[in-house]
Order: sequence, then structure tokens, then C-alpha cells
Amino acid sequence: MFILGIESSCDDTSAAVSMNTVILSNVVSSQLIHKKYGGVVPELASRAHEKNIIPVVEQALKEAKIKMEDLNGIAFTKGPGLLGSLLVGTSFAKAAALALNKPLLDVHHMKAHILAHFIDQKEKNKPNFPFLCLTVSGGHTQIVLVKSHLEMEVIGKTIDDAAGEAFDKAAKIMGLEYPGGPLIDKYATNGDPEKFKFAKPKIADYNFSFSGLKTSFLYFIQKKIKENPNFISEEMPNLCASLQKTIVDILIEKIKKASTNLNINEIAIAGGVSANSALRKALEQLNKNHGKNVYIPDFEYCTDNAAMICISGYYLFQNKIFADQSVTCSARI
Ligand code: KG4
Ligand code: ZN
Repeated sequence: MFILGIESSCDDTSAAVSMNTVILSNVVSSQLIHKKYGGVVPELASRAHEKNIIPVVEQALKEAKIKMEDLNGIAFTKGPGLLGSLLVGTSFAKAAALALNKPLLDVHHMKAHILAHFIDQKEKNKPNFPFLCLTVSGGHTQIVLVKSHLEMEVIGKTIDDAAGEAFDKAAKIMGLEYPGGPLIDKYATNGDPEKFKFAKPKIADYNFSFSGLKTSFLYFIQKKIKENPNFISEEMPNLCASLQKTIVDILIEKIKKASTNLNINEIAIAGGVSANSALRKALEQLNKNHGKNVYIPDFEYCTDNAAMICISGYYLFQNKIFADQSVTCSARI
């Protein structure tokens, strides 16, 4: 079964082609225009998607050596995301499905991040049901109980900022470009994670909070800059490593708690922040020292990509769950 996947929920325009659970192509065009604004500007994102969508789809089909007519279905991100961005992918998918008379498959972006684990990846096992997934992106932070490919229950989530947002906002405070997560990860490599201590929130159950950390980080930096105007540049690696450790500790503590309480030792991670090297290392430790089976996707399937939309479309197709031409995208679902 050949599926074309379209992802346009935020600032990456992506198209991919799959053959069953094998990805034949996965083309991602990241919008660099947002860097100078310190965050995604929704209007600019929609315009860039509009410009990129056709070349990105053409490239994906070309790399997969597949013609439009050979496709069995068209999958697209229905939401959550930025409405103007989602509209571009949704309209394209609907038009393509109508023109080709092929089934349309509407995909939930966060579930797709989780289903990326079922893409065939070299030397990687797939998680066994039921498993817990720590889903951490720029817009979401959740612990999901995954019962099957289509049945998922959110058992914990952030009550304010997402983990990726915490990375990005802290990076902005330090004058780094958007998205700051990968930059913090890079600088942290040469830093001491124990140099600075930031308070961790005390939140009930499996929920998270990151806005207090952001505020305390801001006040800490402001105070230090008064004492030494070069504080940030002199301490960049230590600041990044210490902040990163705090975020990773918060995430690991909660997933460990959920795993113990629910007696589920299968743990997966998904979403853009799962590209973070300290988080990946901490999870590998859980695997080695705490008897958990941890599943970490390849880098290209961590951040936004259309391969995960293809695989989600595949399972929808298998279960005969199709959308029709009246389907609309939605910023919050
Ligand atoms: O899943 P994603 O690509 O888009 C959303 O759906 O939000 O996640 C993007 C988020 C951004 O906040 C970005 O800073 C963060 O993932 N991110 C990272 C790393 N790579 C991406 N955060 C920390 N370390 C990284 N290496
Ligand atoms: Zn995402």
C-alpha cells in the first residue's frame, strides 16, 4: 500500500511516501524565516507552506519513484497546530484525493509522533502494547498510555508551557535564535550540568509545569547580568547544561513514576524534544539500569515530518477509517 503523507502543522512543510510500514521518501523543508523573530510567526508560516507544498510533494514522489496515480491514499495532518498552516496541507490533500479519486486519511499530529515508532527502522525494535510514551514537542508535553495503534489515552500533560517551549524561551532569554532547543543541546555538550541549580516544580500526578522554571531562569539571568554584563557569554555552556538537566530530570521523574505505578516497563519517547541528547542518554540509563525497555526514534522521525503521517494513514486505512471531503482542520483537537 502506497500512501502520500502531508505535514504542515507548524513551520516545517513535509511530504513523504510509504509502502506499508517502509518509508520510501521523507522530504522536510524547514522555514528559516522565523529565526530572526524568536518564534514562529503564523502568517509567515502559512505563506511559506503555500510556496513549498508543491515542490516538496514533487520531490517526495520523485525520490520514492512513485507516480500520483500509484498512490492508494492521501494522509494529512488535521491538527493540532497553527490553523493557517494546517489549512495549506489540508486543502492540498483534499484536492489531491478528489482529483485522483483516492481515499483521504486525517491524522492527529501528536498521535502521529507516537506512531513514528512503527516505521521500519534499521536495528530498531517496535514497542509492545501497552506502552507509555513521553510525547514532548514545542506545543505539547504529555504522558500517553498507548493501548493499540489507534487507541491512546493521555494520562498526564503540562498545565502551562511545553518542554520544547521551555527550551525555546530559555534560549531566547540568552539571546539565541529560534528554535533554541537544538542550540541549548549543542552548547550543553561542553558545560557542567551541576553548575547552576534551578528549582523543580511540584505538580501532582503525571502532570508537568515549565512556566515557573522559565521565570526563575529569567530572574536568575537578570540578577547575574547586573553583577557581570558578560555573564551569559562567559557561562553559556554551563547555563545550557544546567537548564537542560533540570528539564530532563523533570521529564524522567514523571515517566518513571507512571511506569512504576502502572507497572508498564515499555517506554517510548516522541516529539521534537526527543532529539535532545541528554534526554536520550537519561532514557538509555533507564533501559540499562532500571529494567525498562526504552524506544527512541531515529532523529529524522523525532521532529516534525510527514513519514509519521504516512504510517498513521496506513493504520487508519487498515482499520477503514477514512475522511471525506467535508473534513476540516482544527488548531485544537
Ligand atoms: O515536534 P516538533 O518538531 O514540533 C512541534 O510539534 O512542536 O518539536 C519542536 C520542538 C522545539 O521546541 C525545539 O526547540 C525542540 O522541539 N527541539 C529540541 C531539540 N531538537 C528540537 N529541544 C531540545 N533539544 C533538541 N536537540
Ligand atoms: Zn510535532
